[in-house]
Amino acid sequence: MSSEEKQDFKADVVAGLSASPRTLPCKYLYDERGSQLFEGICETEDYYVTRADLALHKAHLGEIAERIGPNAHIIEFGSGAGIKIRIILEATHPRAYTPIEISSEALAQSVAELSQQFPDLDIRPLQADYTRDIPDEHLKLEPPARHRVVYFPGSTISNFTHAEAHDFLVRMARIAGPGGGVLIGVDLVKAPERLERAYDDSEGVTAAFNLNLLRRLEKELGAKLDRQAFRHRAVYDQDLQRIEMHLVADRPTAIELDGQRFEFHAGDSIHTESSHKYTIDGFTELVDGTGLHSVITWTDPDGLFSMHYLENEPDTER
Ligand code: AVI
Repeated sequence: MSSEEKQDFKADVVAGLSASPRTLPCKYLYDERGSQLFEGICETEDYYVTRADLALHKAHLGEIAERIGPNAHIIEFGSGAGIKIRIILEATHPRAYTPIEISSEALAQSVAELSQQFPDLDIRPLQADYTRDIPDEHLKLEPPARHRVVYFPGSTISNFTHAEAHDFLVRMARIAGPGGGVLIGVDLVKAPERLERAYDDSEGVTAAFNLNLLRRLEKELGAKLDRQAFRHRAVYDQDLQRIEMHLVADRPTAIELDGQRFEFHAGDSIHTESSHKYTIDGFTELVDGTGLHSVITWTDPDGLFSMHYLENEPDTER
């Protein structure tokens, strides 16, 4: 982390702990240890999301490949290290593939691995924060691809608020360009017990993932706190259709940071992440007005997860 990033981290933490209700941005869950723990979550029995997403890719690969078609420019938001992109690349023979990733190490590693498996693939990695604007010149190809397809699996869109998710879809439409597509995974509304189990797995990996944030505060920002005084809590809010992760104080305690002292009574919490769940209709509403429209939706027989191929209007300006 550069000293500038550290300053931002500290400022975000001070602002979040000063707010009511207390909150911390979920992006800080993903330091190296947090990213490893997240990979661990994806392998737990209780976190169905990754398995359901992969199963949908496999079950509908023919149709997915048909939508993407040959000679496409596939642009992935994220490092492209996973098995899912390999399946897609194998089935579609794209003109080029651009993984967009903020971490240069993760990007370099995925490019090295993919170029071994796909020696003829034109890989155009882009180190950037995909939540910010991406200048179009970084994505131009000569000769151009037949069309662009933005690939965003894993339901990462869930971690945005509805307003952020809508704006993000607008940006994806712009990046896809006229007649381009978006292939996106979206986790579905389901029984609260199932969701709460997925976000508080019996192996304790999600708890460790959440509590790692306190460790970062201590180690990277020099915060003084008692990690043992907090526990992980995942709760589904049926009205807001979202799982919330919290760090809850189970006794009176305090966090000292940057000359400030933040007191906690037993039961006080810090909201660290929301994971929004959608119905198919709810997601269709979210897409409304973004310039994209739904062409085809795939779901599994248990209705756990969905994948959507959205198409951009032919005349949208890039
Ligand atoms: C990355 N994202 C889609 C995960 C989710 O399901 O919202 C993050 C996560 N948090 C706890 N478990 C998984």
